Amino acid sequence: MKILVFGKDGQLGKAFQEELGVRTSKLLAKPVVQYVGSTECDVANEEVLTQLLNHFQPQLIINASAYTAVDKAETESDLAFAINARAPEIMAQYAADHDATFLHYSTDYVFNGEKYGYYLEDDLRNPLGVYGKSKATGEETIARVFASTRSNGQYAIFRTSWVYGDGGNFIRTILRLAKEREELKIINDQFGAPTSADWLAQVSLNLALDEHAHLRRFRSGIYHAVPAGETTWHGLACLAVQAALDAGVTLRTHPSAIKPILAVEYPLPAPRPMNSRMSTDKLHQVFAGWGDMSKLEQLNQPWDKAVRPYVANLAKDGLI
Ligand SMILES: NC(=O)c1ccc[n+]([C@@H]2O[C@H](COP(=O)([O-])OP(=O)(O)OC[C@H]3O[C@@H](n4cnc5c(N)ncnc54)[C@H](OP(=O)(O)O)[C@@H]3O)[C@@H](O)[C@H]2O)c1
Repeated sequence: MKILVFGKDGQLGKAFQEELGVRTSKLLAKPVVQYVGSTECDVANEEVLTQLLNHFQPQLIINASAYTAVDKAETESDLAFAINARAPEIMAQYAADHDATFLHYSTDYVFNGEKYGYYLEDDLRNPLGVYGKSKATGEETIARVFASTRSNGQYAIFRTSWVYGDGGNFIRTILRLAKEREELKIINDQFGAPTSADWLAQVSLNLALDEHAHLRRFRSGIYHAVPAGETTWHGLACLAVQAALDAGVTLRTHPSAIKPILAVEYPLPAPRPMNSRMSTDKLHQVFAGWGDMSKLEQLNQPWDKAVRPYVANLAKDGLI
């Protein structure tokens, strides 16, 4: 089998390199995997992207590339749409035309956050900013391509939130600030689930591949993929700082000096949803239907379980 992974240098792309390596290391018949970053393939360049797909002929396409600069997107709408909507359309069309499997990623920012309770996959998309609009258009386009093409291919769009991995993210920003300042003010009225990129890659491959790295059949569509539970940015900041202190890092800020504030007190160019809670019942039902307890257990992992080891590793690697 041939697997093509876009976005190899991003948080999720690096997690896929790790996870695919682990899963295939002991296999006799290993899949051929090609990882590409923006240098090897600028996905905003339709010709280059199409050429790569036609040349490599993947049976599984994993799109971990994205335009993720939420605030900058407000003034770079064309580029955000080229990367987050048009590129996935081209990948989806290739997958549909060639009976391939397509894994794509989307975001809680496709919602306006006004719903009370947990968002479901079929809830109305009503993004607040350009980034969310470009990701929402990507979702719609992938579904339309597959609906209008006679195909044995399949797709999964994993909607996730607050991703942290090997790269820039909220936790790393907080730990940097905690070294510099004695007090932090962090938003405490936006709710969501911090998601480890490693966890997300594992859950994605749990859906798409069996233990021999052969493709599984699943129902095409959107799947919410976040760990269990919820917190606020303030809750996440407090845990990250405490975990760093517990790992022996010297910080100027302690959790008691992290003051909760309202989102309105910290205005940003792009508005964010106040509620990013997403139900994972749909993915739950798939794994339950397969009778696979280990996959269910992993899906049900509480959000905070992966934060401590993540921070401890940053400390060990001298990255705080
Ligand atoms: N980060 C979050 O908090 C979050 C939350 C919800 C959903 N998501 C979604 O989760 C997915 C993975 O996010 P992430 O955190 O891993 O993002 P990331 O760390 O920002 O990585 C994105 C990758 O996309 C690549 N890329 C950007 N423009 C490209 C282009 N024109 N051609 C080829 N590659 C390009 C970047 O390459 P370069 O580094 O070379 O530019 C980067 O490696 C995305 O779909 C994102 O929308 C993320």
